[in-house]
Amino acid sequence: MSIRVAVLTVSDTSSGNASYDKSGPTIKEIIQQKDGYQVVQAHCHIVPDDAERILLVVRDICNSDAVDWLISTGGTGFGVRDVTPEAIAPLIERPAPGLVYLMLSSSFKHTPLAALSRPVAGTCKNTLITTLPGSVKAVRENLEALFQEGVVDHAIELIK
Ligand code: MTE
Repeated sequence: MSIRVAVLTVSDTSSGNASYDKSGPTIKEIIQQKDGYQVVQAHCHIVPDDAERILLVVRDICNSDAVDWLISTGGTGFGVRDVTPEAIAPLIERPAPGLVYLMLSSSFKHTPLAALSRPVAGTCKNTLITTLPGSVKAVRENLEALFQEGVVDHAIELIK
């Protein structure tokens, strides 16, 4: 059975014009190339940097029982509009600080600017949630970190 992935882009700009969204499509492309993974298009969304909108979409996805892994991108930084971690944290039933540590420590091999991301991760019902930064470069680096040695595969196996 394949691992079902939803992609949530959080961005004021991209929510106004989907063609500006580069990181969401990058995540989808990487996931689709992975054996045993599929993108659930019906649960992929672009929302503005609005905590209420983010929370509602994430809650629906976790309640759907149709998504094993929700990957968000954007809104994790220190900008005044960056509220992704605050919006998602209340939904996380079991935090996964190890995944946060893995993303940040791997990212530091690429750039100290990784310190400007405030990721959260964990499970909500049977869905694993990870929050990636908004740039295409950061998305690639963070996914590479999560896929190393089957970390995410194993996490999802355990919560499915
Ligand atoms: N993490 C990695 N691996 N690579 C990067 O280039 N960029 C950082 C950081 N995390 C970066 C990264 C930068 S510059 C910012 S501002 C923060 O992610 C927050 O990004 P966001 O607000 O788009 O989520």
